[in-house]
Amino acid sequence: MYEYAFNKRRLGGINMVNLSGRNFLKLLDYSEKEIRYLLDLAKDFKKKKHDGVEHRYLAGKNIVLLFEKTSTRTRCAFEVAGRDLGMGVTYLDPGSSQMGKKESIEDTAKVLGRMYDGIEYRGFGQDIVEDLAKNAGVPVWNGLTNEFHPTQMLADLMTVEENFGYLKGINFVFMGDGRNNVGNSLMVACAKMGVNFTCVGPKDLWPKQELIDTCREIAKESGSKLNFTTDVKEGTMGAHVIYTDVWVSMGEPDSVWEARINLLKDYQVNEEVMRNANDDAIFLHCLPSFHDLKTEIGKNIYDKFGLKEMEVCDSVFASDKSKVFDQAENRMHTIKAVMYATLKDKDE
Ligand code: CP
Ligand code: NVA
Repeated sequence: MYEYAFNKRRLGGINMVNLSGRNFLKLLDYSEKEIRYLLDLAKDFKKKKHDGVEHRYLAGKNIVLLFEKTSTRTRCAFEVAGRDLGMGVTYLDPGSSQMGKKESIEDTAKVLGRMYDGIEYRGFGQDIVEDLAKNAGVPVWNGLTNEFHPTQMLADLMTVEENFGYLKGINFVFMGDGRNNVGNSLMVACAKMGVNFTCVGPKDLWPKQELIDTCREIAKESGSKLNFTTDVKEGTMGAHVIYTDVWVSMGEPDSVWEARINLLKDYQVNEEVMRNANDDAIFLHCLPSFHDLKTEIGKNIYDKFGLKEMEVCDSVFASDKSKVFDQAENRMHTIKAVMYATLKDKDE
């Protein structure tokens, strides 16, 4: 116990941030200092995990994971992080709960809040996770909505920092569907942390003007520059990070594939793009990714449209510049930081 108390005091350094009892719904709700604290905490947890130092700091607590969309990384990250922290973990998918079909989100939240200490939600509208949080009475964490993917952002920032040693002044480029949950969230994350953000893609797929305006205000304080361009060469020149995501997101109908491919086929991350970026540039992707024909959807798209690779070519995905598996691992350390910070006692 003594060792736990000692280790806990050291977590996250001497930062005076206290997030106990808070929800984690979108990065817009968090200050630069609070995000910094979560990143430092995640770094501590990563070291503990790699050194084999036990950290069951939340033993006796229980969490529930609600998934209305599929997942590999987010679900496993929450499960492993929860267990490492000593908690009981329940996983509920739409097929095995009453949520939505027979019971409203509000009633579900009220029930789960009586039994669990924290709730993760992955699903559709951001309004759903906000509604859950209003009614649950315990911290709610957003594991991806149509609009935002905030836990992904912490892993992405952590991976950038591991590679370059700093965040402020990094030139971060997102290529592709800039107004999906990942594109939106990256713009917010970069604006908050003083990272320069460039969205490279067709105008129709840039983030909504209202969110751009909000981020421009935030960027004034952090010193981040936000750029939007349709020109791949201009947009990727001088980049430290090239990031992309799938062209069609979960929840979108299959009928959008053709139009989306036509819009985005010139925005694939390929060798030429990486050559145009800085010599030490890295490639990131939240995953899963269509970079070969080893997936069912990948094969279908090849049969219909003749594309062997989509948002990133296989040679970039498999290159030394690609840090996508470090990034995936970091989902677990950062999610652990979020759960620990929001579930720990206020005076710890
Ligand atoms: N990046 C991400 O959220 O992956 P999953 O969909 O597998 O959770
Ligand atoms: N934009 C993607 C992210 C997956 C992690 C989707 O929503 O499907």
